[in-house]
Amino acid sequence: MPATIIDGKQVQASIREELAKKVQELKAKHGLTPGIGVILVGEDPASQSYVKSKEKTANELGYYSKTIRVPVETTEAEVLRLVGEFNKDPQIHGILVQLPLPPHINENSIIFAIDPKKDVDGFHPVNIGKLHMGEECFVPCTPAGVMELLKRTGVELKGKNAVVVGRSNLVGKPVSMLLLAQHATVTICHSRTKDLAAECRRADVLVAAVGKAKMITADMIKPGAVVIDVGVNRVEGGKLVGDVDFEGAVNVASAITPVPGGVGPMTIGMLMKNTFLAAERTLVK
Ligand code: GUN
Repeated sequence: MPATIIDGKQVQASIREELAKKVQELKAKHGLTPGIGVILVGEDPASQSYVKSKEKTANELGYYSKTIRVPVETTEAEVLRLVGEFNKDPQIHGILVQLPLPPHINENSIIFAIDPKKDVDGFHPVNIGKLHMGEECFVPCTPAGVMELLKRTGVELKGKNAVVVGRSNLVGKPVSMLLLAQHATVTICHSRTKDLAAECRRADVLVAAVGKAKMITADMIKPGAVVIDVGVNRVEGGKLVGDVDFEGAVNVASAITPVPGGVGPMTIGMLMKNTFLAAERTLVK
């Protein structure tokens, strides 16, 4: 029997519906409108398209949103100044600096400058540290999206073998911590892992986040496993494919996310959720 297809678009639509209601309540009860400040340096087409979707979603949900677009040659000092302005602005509850930044700007310097209370990306060391400690924090959006999909699909994680392929700060490391917090036994694989196929075959839940088109093939998947594909790879002809060979995997897994339409749509929903939480947390002082 082919796997259940986990529909990220549908899950994201219900998250948006829930959030839109909560935003109206926050406005009515407390006169507070969640606000998001976005900084985009340069004109990378993928980044421009992400930022546009973020603006559109924020507007549709009734958020205040301010996007600052600056040219690619903008200095690190100027970007730091812009972050400082958003840190001070009471209308802005969440700050997002779109990555990647041009090579002359140190990404970590920028991330470190964001007020952790406004760090809705969850990239600041304070939030990363809290995530590792199991404290309340902003969880990075893509890993949060992965966990939300697992939760809403009813996947039990306690005692299960979870294998994460990829060890990035953006996805691999944080999603491993979140799976661990749900009592999974977590293995993190990467480019130097000796026998990747054997490691993957032990997975009850397999999360692929490497950025290599179709590198996880059907023979690497345990029959009945849940497969979450975080990869977004553009191949010849402009088509988007994941890190998992979907056509093969769908006949082995019990549930699988497609690319596009799986994890991707969840990310913006999680960003909006984090921004809502950032606004709400300003009420408890
Ligand atoms: N570029 C790709 N993904 C992300 C993300 O989640 N946050 C930011 N700030 N930039 C990105």
